[in-house]
Amino acid sequence: MIKYPFLDLGKVNEPYLYELKEAACRVIESGRFIGGEEVDALEQELSTLTHAPYAIGVSNGLDALRLILRGYIELGVMTHGDEVIVPANTYIASVLAVSDAGLTSVPVDIDPVTMNIDTSLIDKTITSRTRAVMPVHLYGRVAWDNTLVETAKKHNLKIIEDNAQALGARASLDGLHGSRMTGALGDAAGVSFYPTKNVGALGDAGAVLTHDRDLAIAVRALANYGSDRRYHNIYRGFNCRLDPIQAAMLRVKLRHLKEENAERFARALAYNNTIRRDDVILPEITSTVVDNVWHQYVIRVTEGKRALFRERLADKGVATDIHYAVPPHRQPCYADTLGQQSYPVAERLADEIVSLPIGTGTSVRDASDIGHIINSLDLSNCS
Ligand SMILES: Cc1ncc(COP(=O)(O)O)c(C=O)c1O
Repeated sequence: MIKYPFLDLGKVNEPYLYELKEAACRVIESGRFIGGEEVDALEQELSTLTHAPYAIGVSNGLDALRLILRGYIELGVMTHGDEVIVPANTYIASVLAVSDAGLTSVPVDIDPVTMNIDTSLIDKTITSRTRAVMPVHLYGRVAWDNTLVETAKKHNLKIIEDNAQALGARASLDGLHGSRMTGALGDAAGVSFYPTKNVGALGDAGAVLTHDRDLAIAVRALANYGSDRRYHNIYRGFNCRLDPIQAAMLRVKLRHLKEENAERFARALAYNNTIRRDDVILPEITSTVVDNVWHQYVIRVTEGKRALFRERLADKGVATDIHYAVPPHRQPCYADTLGQQSYPVAERLADEIVSLPIGTGTSVRDASDIGHIINSLDLSNCS
């Protein structure tokens, strides 16, 4: 019997049930089901939260990234066949957005500690066709450092953040600037509000954030059939708009992001303070700024013991998951383009990583109980 589910989405929304119902009624009674006040207000709130001057609500996180890349193509910043650097360990959506736009992904291996792109390797992958780098703030941890910024500057690359997993996280910056929020670090960012995310819609939803006015105008038009005004289409666009009903749900959830992220941090701390095993590597808790919003709490189970670890943990009632068991370059859909390439750190980690429950519904007490269960597991193989 599962005593500790990985994530119970009913429980995630339970604390906000009254507010969500009230917001849903507001939209139903408004009679406005495309665009309108709720979408405008959410965009304003996202902009206020992140300090990104432009926020555009869109249909989902994948579409947010697709729209950014298509926007840059329409603006002449990139063209078919240009290269975009991506981390070798990410959810496949980052890479799908690149290929969908007719661009070429260039994976770069990851840092085994942060599990994010190893920024020291970016420089040597740059060619005359490289136009952008897409850091992914994977598992909620900020993928941002001086090497990334300086390399992008040196080669005139756009920085497109995949901020699907880290809304509310901050990067510390050198000098007088203090810290800045993900989504407003680079030139543009894609956000996902998939229901399991730290701010989850009650369906699919996403947003584009940017400092670039021209890109914002292009993205808004592209998401609305390529239309800049009614029945006037300047691009061959899509229908990728955000529904007002989801915008209304998200406005409720966004108000609670700070406390939700603080609770995730407390659970991560409880795990790190409890788990002690030679065959388990814990994620680092590093900084005083919120440089990780703990979308996932990912440990590494070494010595080839992961399958047994998950099995024994499931026997004790603890559900786990893997994010992600197969890196994009090993997926059948990229066999012809990326399949021959090898990224040793990403591949090793894909065999070792295990995500433990961290979302709403898992208490700090649960996290330390799960930690004690992990410490007591016998991982000697008896077969
Ligand atoms: C890293 C990453 N990028 C992009 C996406 C795509 O977001 P969505 O599911 O909203 O399309 C996701 C989420 O699923 C993700 O985790």
